[in-house]
Amino acid sequence: MERKRVLSGVQPTGALHLGNWLGAIRNWVDLQISHETFFCVVDLHAITVPHDPAVLSENTLSTAALYIACGIDPKVSSIFIQSQIAAHSELCWLLNCVTPLNWLERMIQFKEKAVKQGDNVSVGLLDYPVLMAADILLYDSDLVPVGEDQKQHLELARDIAQQRINSRYNNTKDRPVLKIPKPLIIKEGAKVMSLTDGRKKMSKSDPNEGSRIGLLDPPELITKKIKRAKTDQYIGLEFDNPDRPEADNLLTIYSILSGLGKEESTNQCKEMGWGKFKPLLGDVTVSALEPIQAKYKDLMQERTELRKILQAGKSDAEEVAQATLKRVHSALGLTCRE
Ligand code: TYM
Repeated sequence: MERKRVLSGVQPTGALHLGNWLGAIRNWVDLQISHETFFCVVDLHAITVPHDPAVLSENTLSTAALYIACGIDPKVSSIFIQSQIAAHSELCWLLNCVTPLNWLERMIQFKEKAVKQGDNVSVGLLDYPVLMAADILLYDSDLVPVGEDQKQHLELARDIAQQRINSRYNNTKDRPVLKIPKPLIIKEGAKVMSLTDGRKKMSKSDPNEGSRIGLLDPPELITKKIKRAKTDQYIGLEFDNPDRPEADNLLTIYSILSGLGKEESTNQCKEMGWGKFKPLLGDVTVSALEPIQAKYKDLMQERTELRKILQAGKSDAEEVAQATLKRVHSALGLTCRE
């Protein structure tokens, strides 16, 4: 039986954090066994906001290394850099021509990011979700494992594929032009919150470094950030109390990283004060990140090996992407390519 296909990606816009790992990459690892998996570093998305070229280039390689350090096996999965496959930009253009402008203007992330850019909002930032749709649709993806914040972008990708391509241009009788993907959002960890405000998402763009734990943060820094994390006046950690977002968030992180799960961690921490809980969470976080950091260090010392992996991923990706692009060209009447 043909295995279902998975595609996902992370932007190389700075150090990856606990949210990226728990909400996304952690799930990719399990999917490798049962699915055909493609994971890209979405560098074209990273230039939708002002960036430093040298930093971007280094972050792109380092993000790929982190995928592997987190457990993505290059022998099983195809790991590649988005900008190396020109079909992403090309399909994005084709989808741009059928996507209504107002679908993009109502995207929550666009509105949030646009506020920060003032008068300098680029067309690229508005177009970000169409490029993301192209990433997903190019690979005939069945499932897209992402954090909660990407749900709206996934819905957009589905709408573009179904309403704007398949139902208008479905001129192939045997199969639709584009496959309709489904988001895969896991229950625990799909929305890791900021350490300094339990009502705000942990984010790479938060100017306060203390709001997030970077996957490459050294142990002392992790311990310090957790020590300074926002708390409340209550004793005992608990889940799902809307008045205690910090307790819910930190206990969620603890339950995942310790491997204890919700029930056991509730039993262990329900009468524990913050003073006792925080060192415990610090230790568990440091231990969980230790093997990732060690593997990452090795990989970054073997850059030639890393580039070979990305080259192999590129050729796997290219083959699938070209086939889809050809189908879309043909459906839209761009036939002189044949
Ligand atoms: P990015 O780099 O912002 O996020 C990468 C992944 O991490 C998840 N994530 C979180 N999960 C839980 N808690 C958080 N605080 C948190 N912050 C981020 C995101 O949901 C995402 O899964 N637009 C995408 C990148 C992208 C993409 C794609 C993803 C471009 N093309 C195609 C999938 C398929 C993004 O959010 O990147």
